[in-house]
Amino acid sequence: MTFDDKGSGSAVVLLHGFPFNRSMWCKQIDFLSARGYRVIAPDLRGLGENVAQTSVCDSSSSSDHRLESVPLATMEAMARDVAALMDELKIDSAVICGLSMGCYVAFELIHNFPSRVNALILCGPRAQGSDEAEKASREAQAQRVLHEGMGFAVESISTNLLAAATVRDKPDVGARVTEMVLQTDPVGAAAAQRGMAARRDYSNDLPNIKVPTLIVAGGEDGVRTPADAEFIERRIKGSQLLVIDDAGHLMNMEQPELFNHAMLDFLNRNRLN
Ligand code: MLT
Repeated sequence: MTFDDKGSGSAVVLLHGFPFNRSMWCKQIDFLSARGYRVIAPDLRGLGENVAQTSVCDSSSSSDHRLESVPLATMEAMARDVAALMDELKIDSAVICGLSMGCYVAFELIHNFPSRVNALILCGPRAQGSDEAEKASREAQAQRVLHEGMGFAVESISTNLLAAATVRDKPDVGARVTEMVLQTDPVGAAAAQRGMAARRDYSNDLPNIKVPTLIVAGGEDGVRTPADAEFIERRIKGSQLLVIDDAGHLMNMEQPELFNHAMLDFLNRNRLN
C-alpha cells in the first residue's frame, strides 16, 4: 500500500473518498502532525498510487475481457488492507477518520477489528446499503469508466460535490478535485464502484459502536446529506454531529480551518496517551 506517515504521538488514520486518493487529506496531515499526532493516510485498494496492473486502454483485450477481469474491491477488503498496514506500522489502535467511501471502510474496520479503533470521525457518511437502483447506477458508472476513462466524471463530480461558495471562491479546490479524479485508475475506480454496490447495510452496526464518534456533514452536501449524518447520530449513543456551512461533500478540502480545528478539538478531548 502507498501511504503517508507523518508525525508522532497517538495515531490517526485518514481514509479517503471516491474517486480520490490520500492527497485529499494533505491539509489535515500537516496540521495534525504538527500538533502531536501520528497521521497515516493510505491510498485505498486500486486507487491513488495503488493502481491495478490491468491496462484499461489495452486494445489487444476485448472489452468483455476487460470487464470480466476487473476485480471487486470490497469495503471489507479495503478494511483488511488498513488493518494489515497498521500491523506493519506497529499501530495497535488508532482514531479512524473516513470520508464517504472511507466511512464504509471505517464501518468494516470497527465491525471486524473492534480493538483497533479508539474513536471514529465520520465525514459525509451514509449507513444504509445500496438498493437496486443504486447498484444499477454504480454498474453503469463502472462500465462507462472502463470504456471511456475518468474524463466524463470530472464535470459532474466537481459540480455536485462542492458547495456553491467553494466553486465560486476557491477555484484551487475545484482544480485539485479535477486533478485527483483524472489521476484515478479507471480499473481501480470500477472495482471500487462495484465494491460500494456490494457493501453491507451498516445501520444495524451503529448501536454497537461504543467508541467516541464525531460525525461531520457538509451543510450543502447533496451526495451524503446532513440527514444521512443525523440518521447515524441518532443511532450511535453519545456521538456528536457537526454541520459545516458553505461546505459540500469534500468539507475537509472546502473548509480546512474549521474542519481541522473541530477534528483537533475532538482528538484532544479523546486523547489516549
Ligand atoms: C465518496 O465520496 O467516497 C463517494 O461519494 C461514496 C459513494 O459513492 O457512496
